[in-house]
Amino acid sequence: MNLFSWLSFLFCVVAASASVTIPSRTVEKRESTSFVSTDGPDFVVNGSTLRYIGTNLYWLPALNTNEDIWYTLGNISAVGIKVIRVWAFNDVDTIPVNGTWFQLIQNGTLSINEGPNGLQKLDTVIEMAEQQGLYVILSLTNNWYPLPLLNNAIAPINSSLFTRDVTLGTNNSLPRNYLSNDYGGMDLYVRQFGLDTHDQFYTNETILNSFLNYTTQVVQRYVNRTSIFSWELANDARCNSTLAASPNCTTETITTWHATVAAHVKSIDPNHLVSSGNQGFMCMDCPKLYPLNPAPPPAQPSASPAPGRKRRSLPQPFTKEKLLKDRAESRRRNREASKRAGTLIENGVRIRGRWVSTAERRQDSQDVGAAFDGSYGVDSQDILNIPEIGFGTFQFFPDQQSYGPADQNLAPIDQTISEGVDWITSQAQSSAAVGKPVTLTGFGLVTQENAPFFIPFNMTTAPYATPQSQATGQSNSTYGVTVQQQASAYTTWLNSGIAAGLNGIMQYQWGQSNLTAVTGTTISPSTTQESPDQSTTGESSSPDETGESPNDGYSTSGDDGEVQQVLGNAVQQIGSVG
Ligand SMILES: *[C@@H]1O[C@H](CO)[C@@H](O)[C@H](O)[C@H]1NC(C)=O
Ligand SMILES: *[C@@H]1O[C@H](CO)[C@@H](O)[C@H](O)[C@H]1NC(C)=O
Ligand SMILES: *[C@@H]1O[C@H](CO)[C@@H](O)[C@H](O)[C@H]1NC(C)=O
Ligand SMILES: *[C@@H]1O[C@H](CO)[C@@H](O)[C@H](O)[C@H]1NC(C)=O
Ligand SMILES: *[C@@H]1O[C@H](CO)[C@@H](O)[C@H](O)[C@H]1NC(C)=O
Ligand SMILES: *[C@@H]1O[C@H](CO)[C@@H](O)[C@H](O)[C@H]1NC(C)=O
Ligand SMILES: *[C@@H]1O[C@H](CO)[C@@H](O)[C@H](O)[C@H]1NC(C)=O
Ligand SMILES: *[C@@H]1O[C@H](CO)[C@@H](O)[C@H](O)[C@H]1NC(C)=O
Ligand SMILES: *[C@@H]1O[C@H](CO)[C@@H](O)[C@H](O)[C@H]1NC(C)=O
Ligand SMILES: *[C@@H]1O[C@H](CO)[C@@H](O)[C@H](O)[C@H]1NC(C)=O
Ligand SMILES: *[C@@H]1O[C@H](CO)[C@@H](O)[C@H](O)[C@H]1NC(C)=O
Ligand SMILES: *[C@@H]1O[C@H](CO)[C@@H](O)[C@H](O)[C@H]1NC(C)=O
Repeated sequence: MNLFSWLSFLFCVVAASASVTIPSRTVEKRESTSFVSTDGPDFVVNGSTLRYIGTNLYWLPALNTNEDIWYTLGNISAVGIKVIRVWAFNDVDTIPVNGTWFQLIQNGTLSINEGPNGLQKLDTVIEMAEQQGLYVILSLTNNWYPLPLLNNAIAPINSSLFTRDVTLGTNNSLPRNYLSNDYGGMDLYVRQFGLDTHDQFYTNETILNSFLNYTTQVVQRYVNRTSIFSWELANDARCNSTLAASPNCTTETITTWHATVAAHVKSIDPNHLVSSGNQGFMCMDCPKLYPLNPAPPPAQPSASPAPGRKRRSLPQPFTKEKLLKDRAESRRRNREASKRAGTLIENGVRIRGRWVSTAERRQDSQDVGAAFDGSYGVDSQDILNIPEIGFGTFQFFPDQQSYGPADQNLAPIDQTISEGVDWITSQAQSSAAVGKPVTLTGFGLVTQENAPFFIPFNMTTAPYATPQSQATGQSNSTYGVTVQQQASAYTTWLNSGIAAGLNGIMQYQWGQSNLTAVTGTTISPSTTQESPDQSTTGESSSPDETGESPNDGYSTSGDDGEVQQVLGNAVQQIGSVG
């Protein structure tokens, strides 16, 4: 057994014996509705529990044909995946010549595109998902929108706006909507309303009303559709973006916004769950707007345990002390395991793996770190305890964030795998205290093959790309893990998540080939496939030209089905535990 299959095994044992108490419950109170609902820590559909493996494909409504959408959903469904996560926003400040867009936000006025390249694309996605037996999590806006540079690289006016060069023919000329952070969102509202700090999106009444207006239009459209899994209020809401936060922004700012928007969505659509979409950052010491109430509700005759069943044990709050204790225990386990595997690195020796980007990850052992101290302005537990929020969400992207101190005695890949296992364990404990389901809405690890394409959420250029490497997809950079290491990490995280009682786990992101390419859209004809003849005659979009779905460094295209295999195994695993 290698280090991490051993750890994974150990984790299952630990999780099963100690870390998460699943409260017992009665079956009778479950509603038999074909909308997804919750019962304590479970998702329920038609009276049965639902646990799922999922994937992300923010670009689905931007595909050029209905056949492309149909085949993509068919390929996903064939793996056994049950839930997908898609952007239900596509804001522009100028109407694009080609391609999909949903809302024009221009100088403080808004209009929604209900045409065939507008919300009708989303209608198709929802309808086809229903036909293929898939559920869709729809995100309503994005924290991230770094501005692209327009032709010939106008220097950014404000240095806090990070930019991408979209000059045609340059290495960075990615089509619109190629990146997940290129669909408009919070900072587009802020700029087009003439304001300048990111958190004004959350606090300015005019912007809030405009966003609620968009939300109403989209939510009302699908009130009766059973294929909506949940309304996700925002991808990764936090105080800062590429527009900086004002000093006023705190966890209370973000929690208050969630409470307002969640109540609004529920008032329009009582049929569907509402989720946050935040990354799961915690703040154990922050003041709470929705404090955990440890007092049990008054006993109801129907809720009393059946004879012989254990009474529901009170959830333990997840505290700083518990986190530090868990970390010490994790370090002890890891050392033990790596000693057995013969991979332990002796104290003081640091072997820097090929893909580690920073040596700054070691932290004081009493310091819980930015993911737990409210630095991002997010208190995921306070958000989860808002009555209208149905279930918890978190994400895991170790190439872009630190989630805790690295154990310098482990090899870098083992540090990262361990970091993920610890993050999952903390999330399971934090949500168990609230008593609602919890899901991992996105996780990913960048491989060497994908390194030339890797673009972090707050950027528009690939930091490890050379012009040649991006054109060929063959990286000579020293960044990224091998496909084998990726598969092993994904397997460990999926197994750990299943063992810890996560209700849903979604990989980021799906890769689909054989898509219809049209010039000026997300799936554009590849310039490398074009013959000189075609480019001179302007026939660059002949009907049989095909393309790949976007790759921001996490796509499964080109891994020979390795990740699909891992996801398929996880589908069996999560199915077998019910
Ligand atoms: C739930 O029941 C409805 C109505 O019988 C049915 O159409 C739907 O497919 C069921 N959903 C699941 C997930 O079983
Ligand atoms: C998968 O997608 C391809 C197109 O890329 C399509 O030909 C095939 O039918 C799809 N498979 C399923 C099961 O839908
Ligand atoms: C933006 O709107 C304001 C107020 O409605 C108006 O005075 C101004 O001329 C507009 N600017 C542009 C560029 O349209
Ligand atoms: C609300 O949305 C509708 C439909 O797109 C639009 O006509 C209206 O101008 C919007 N109102 C505000 C205040 O944004
Ligand atoms: C909110 O935004 C509107 C529109 O730009 C602006 O007129 C108003 O002054 C802002 N309100 C506050 C309190 O800043
Ligand atoms: C949803 O269904 C309800 C009850 O059947 C109906 O009253 C309502 O008009 C429907 N809404 C939409 C948007 O179709
Ligand atoms: C921050 O708060 C102060 C005091 O309430 C207020 O005057 C100021 O306008 C706020 N700034 C922003 C950007 O919201
Ligand atoms: C936002 O970013 C600034 C630097 O741009 C930093 O000083 C501040 O602490 C950050 N605030 C939050 C809440 O993330
Ligand atoms: C993006 O986020 C990472 C991690 O927080 C940070 O190191 C980097 O400076 C950020 N880049 C931009 C352009 O904001
Ligand atoms: C990577 O490829 C680029 C472009 O071909 C080349 O200039 C560079 O020297 C290569 N770097 C290494 C470390 O091989
Ligand atoms: C590619 O997609 C087309 C329809 O869009 C389908 O007819 C064809 O069989 C697909 N080819 C492959 C290799 O999947
Ligand atoms: C829009 O699409 C047409 C037809 O594919 C193409 O000729 C044109 O160049 C595209 N325009 C832009 C701005 O991409």
